[in-house]
Amino acid sequence: MLDQARGCRAPAADVVAHAHVNAADYDRMYAESIADPDAFWGREGRTLDWVTPFSRVKNTDMTLGQVSIRWFEDGVLNASVNCIDRHLPTRADQTAIIWEPDDPADPAQHITYAQLSENVNRFANVLLSQGVMRGDRVVIYLPMIPEAAYAMLACARIGAIHSVVFAGFSPDSLANRINDCQAKLVITADTAPRGGRRTPLKSNADAALLRCSEKVRCLVVKHTGDQISWIEGRDVDVKALMRTAAPDCPPRPMGAEDPLFILYTSGSTGRPKGVVHSTAGYLLYAAMTHRLVFDYHEGDVYWCTADVGWVTGHSYIVYGPLANGGTTLMFEGTPNFPDAGRFWEVVAKHRVTQFYTAPTAIRALMGQGEEWPARHDLSSLRILGSVGEPINPEAWNWFDRHVGHGRCPIVDTFWQTETGGHMITPLPGAIPTKPGSATKPFFGVRPAVLDPTTGAELTGEAEGVLAIADSWPGQMRTLWGDHERFEEAYFSQYPGTYFTGDGCRRDADGYYWITGRVDDVLNISGHRMGTAEIESALVAHRDVAEAAVVGVPHDIKGQGIYAYVTLMNGVEPGEDLRADLVKWVRAEIGPIATPDFLQWAPGLPKTRSGKIMRRILRKIAEDDFGSLGDTSTLADPAVVDDLIANRQNRG
Ligand code: WTA
Repeated sequence: MLDQARGCRAPAADVVAHAHVNAADYDRMYAESIADPDAFWGREGRTLDWVTPFSRVKNTDMTLGQVSIRWFEDGVLNASVNCIDRHLPTRADQTAIIWEPDDPADPAQHITYAQLSENVNRFANVLLSQGVMRGDRVVIYLPMIPEAAYAMLACARIGAIHSVVFAGFSPDSLANRINDCQAKLVITADTAPRGGRRTPLKSNADAALLRCSEKVRCLVVKHTGDQISWIEGRDVDVKALMRTAAPDCPPRPMGAEDPLFILYTSGSTGRPKGVVHSTAGYLLYAAMTHRLVFDYHEGDVYWCTADVGWVTGHSYIVYGPLANGGTTLMFEGTPNFPDAGRFWEVVAKHRVTQFYTAPTAIRALMGQGEEWPARHDLSSLRILGSVGEPINPEAWNWFDRHVGHGRCPIVDTFWQTETGGHMITPLPGAIPTKPGSATKPFFGVRPAVLDPTTGAELTGEAEGVLAIADSWPGQMRTLWGDHERFEEAYFSQYPGTYFTGDGCRRDADGYYWITGRVDDVLNISGHRMGTAEIESALVAHRDVAEAAVVGVPHDIKGQGIYAYVTLMNGVEPGEDLRADLVKWVRAEIGPIATPDFLQWAPGLPKTRSGKIMRRILRKIAEDDFGSLGDTSTLADPAVVDDLIANRQNRG
């Protein structure tokens, strides 16, 4: 049995009594979901609202060369109907979205389901008036304002495929995404207030559109009223058009497998990948995980602090909560504006019941001191959640003590952009927690711990890499326009399984502990970033000949960015150039890619075949010179001594 002595916390009796799922339910339901997925998911699938019910549940094949993931494939439905219309008979006047603005002096908004419906319908009619048709791609580059949710749901209503681009991304990153999915239009706002500052979104979009087809239209939400430039014929004032648009727009019946959205994420190589999610499987999986993992009940006020630009915002601010007829809080601001008590002030103000955030935010707030949460009434909280990276026990304990006051279960949810929803996570009333472990698989998820070299599945207590042995409804379907890359990226490593890219340990109690990425994907403050993207941004600078980027442990961010840079012949290193390169990367990708350290590297450690040995660079970045391993295969072993000698020479 699990016990306190082993760092384990069993759910309290009142939590169990209230919960949708208790320990016995979990065991029974999990067993059924694995033994008979058709029966299990068939039943769950019928909780959605269908135009034409499905007759077939699961039709999936993860064999390399013929990967095909289809769920509920002959069913017909509309995602916006499931998030809005079906709730109207019973909860038209219930709040769907609480919007909390950046500046606490500005009023919050409470948007009812009836108002959400009207706004989404009007927005959908605006899209139609701009010639957007079923299957067209629409890029959404918006701050955390209700219009972001309206825009997503409006796309879903007319069968357009949205692709949200995080508002912190640069014009170049935005342009790459618009071009990759050949979007017909981009939706942006004038400016985006965050932490008291303003991001010039419209002017970023203007710069991006210089690199795109001139046919791409730009819909602008005038949010702050700040001065912006305007191109007649291309730019469209969304709010003005919404005022005159009809308040109803018939939902387009969509196939279960029609794409709902594309979301770009970083991989270990090359350009960001356009992860494609389906309509029915994704929506069902987001809704079900939201209801069970956060134990969402009628009347709860649920708050996820993520941005809609990331998958967490898609599944757990918009689609999951709204499909469940819930109340979801959308926050425009930052944890430390105007002060380090903002999160707790918002919790108290709106009587938040579930609070879902990232370890990096917890660590940052922890550093500000426990007096901040202590100043606010946090008694409404019932469940706390964590996502994005492994949560270190110190942060877990602080969250538990100073925010949850020891009475709120913490759900540490492991999942990925690719998985659509939670994969390994506690259920509050069913699974005892251990700080730092994501605990047990969600229904239908078959984790497999594999030997990284042989690919053999390890049983019992084991450490290796994490694959998933069978499909689940929220699984991504393909990479936009590149099914071959999809198979290569996820199904080629360990045949017959989906490879997560994460390392993992399973303990004697069958609990899973995610140990971090085993590929060249960094996790900076819970945000994914490929080393290759940062390297290619650096080498695009005229003074840079070569660059290699690795992750380095960082107290707040979890991982920091450490860049080794080789300059062009004749270019002298210096502080000005270093600052210039850091600024350059921010401009090329966005502030989340800002290098924390930049070391001049006259040469990089390469094998004789020219491959950069990152393992060595990681060790040097960590000051771990004693265990560099075998350097004899290097083309020029002296390079390593030079890098170590210059280890201090970094900024
Ligand atoms: C990491 C975010 C440990 C992991 C939803 C994964 C986690 C990557 C956790 C996906 C967690 C996410 N514990 N690691 N609870 N949650 N990760 O696509 O490395 O932005 O592969 O999705 O974040 O990041 P992504």
